[in-house]
Amino acid sequence: MKIPFNKPYWSNDELGSIKEALNSHHISGGGDFSRKSEALLCEYTGAKKTLLTTSCTHALEMSAVLLNIEPGDEVIIPSFTFVSSALAFVMQGAVPVFCDIRADTLNIDETKIEELISKRTKAIVVVHYAGVSCEMDAILVLSNKYGLSLIEDNAHGLFGSYKGKSLGSFGHLVTQSFHETKNIICGEGGRYC
Ligand SMILES: Cc1ncc(COP(=O)(O)O)c(C=O)c1O
Repeated sequence: MKIPFNKPYWSNDELGSIKEALNSHHISGGGDFSRKSEALLCEYTGAKKTLLTTSCTHALEMSAVLLNIEPGDEVIIPSFTFVSSALAFVMQGAVPVFCDIRADTLNIDETKIEELISKRTKAIVVVHYAGVSCEMDAILVLSNKYGLSLIEDNAHGLFGSYKGKSLGSFGHLVTQSFHETKNIICGEGGRYC
């Protein structure tokens, strides 16, 4: 999928935009640039609603709260990821059930998820490591078959795709990072939708 750099809200002049924000005297969240970013992210991923957050970690923590994760609930998480993908759920009392990853993509091994599902499983977390997509068809089948929430930790995946569909458009809940190590950066920042 083509990155929409021709959209009117891409200025291609970051320093000019920072100056505009400073001159507007609104440099916290919820301002004009936040609204434009949220609109772009909704349009790009097809999300109904996007909320910019201070980090992807924060967005993951919101996901755990909104899913009503309770002590003893199990959440299936790739065994290779950043600590926040697990900790956000553990902080609500969840038991992380780590699923092995694939040697070729470093993503959760979709063939090893089903054997980890139990009566206590509440959700599956996927991470598209380094922007390489997980095998979403197989994972969506499992999420639907067992009625499990799917959290797409898309920290690395903005502007990547799976079978022509944007990464960040598969999960029931999707999180994004704008940390300086990611595809689009703003120092620290995130998104939840
Ligand atoms: C897969 C993954 N999820 C979540 C995060 C957390 O992102 P943030 O620094 O925006 O909290 C990272 C950060 O590296 C990450 O790699």
